[in-house]
Amino acid sequence: MGDEDGRLVVDGLNVYYDRVHVLQDVGFEVGAEPVAMVGRNGMGKTTLAKALLGLVPAASGSVRFGGQELLGASPYKIVKAGIGYVPQGRRIWPSLSTHEHLVMVGAKAGSRWTVDTVYDVFPRLAERRDVSGANLSGGEQQMLAIARALLTNPRLLVMDEPSEGLAPAIVEHLASTLRSLVDEGQSVFLVEQNLRFATELGDHILVMVNGRIATDLRSEELLADEEKQNLYLGVA
Ligand SMILES: Nc1ncnc2c1ncn2[C@@H]1O[C@H](COP(=O)(O)OP(=O)(O)OP(=O)(O)O)[C@@H](O)[C@H]1O
Ligand SMILES: [Mg+2]
Repeated sequence: MGDEDGRLVVDGLNVYYDRVHVLQDVGFEVGAEPVAMVGRNGMGKTTLAKALLGLVPAASGSVRFGGQELLGASPYKIVKAGIGYVPQGRRIWPSLSTHEHLVMVGAKAGSRWTVDTVYDVFPRLAERRDVSGANLSGGEQQMLAIARALLTNPRLLVMDEPSEGLAPAIVEHLASTLRSLVDEGQSVFLVEQNLRFATELGDHILVMVNGRIATDLRSEELLADEEKQNLYLGVA
């Protein structure tokens, strides 16, 4: 990747819930390098992910992807334009098996991603192919949510807190799987509260405070600065 084709350019994005101004002049870019956004509870991370996917309306601004304006487009059209979405909370169907989730999305003609190739990336899902969503572990559900998004053949994968509620060893495993997708050229925008996970994936970290991008730093910089971690995430 690395071409203009897959570049996301967000500019002056404003979103309100009624009269509450939740996203305030948000602007950033995602190219070939993965970008992660961190921020405490309720800062507006999910609202941003949803606004990128057309799931919440924006009052103003611009979301361009590969040169095309997507603000105001339907979620369907945005996914079709090449943005894949892994929602917070995974949103797995309790009564559908792993395999049913995947075949229901199917594969796009000529795509790198098919049900078989997502099973190659997540062998655990192949082992659990006939298990219903309700009986998958949190980590398995998260893999399935990512696998489902990959089947839409996204040039850019938007993930909302994939590490939430998972045990550290599972988070570590998920991070290394995602890292290999990134190394293969998958472009990623990640929203996270888990700093270690965010910095493992994103070379570049955006910090959201009260619906604004408060700062923008290299991963090493944030990892080395406990004061900033405490300020932005309350973790130190
Ligand atoms: N549908 C909604 N209607 C009204 N207010 C909402 C709605 N969804 C979220 N909010 C509010 O908007 C703000 C931002 O919420 P958002 O879910 O985007 O934050 P977040 O950073 O994703 O938080 P978390 O870390 O808990 O996932 C919060 O104050 C939240 O209460
Ligand atoms: Mg959220």
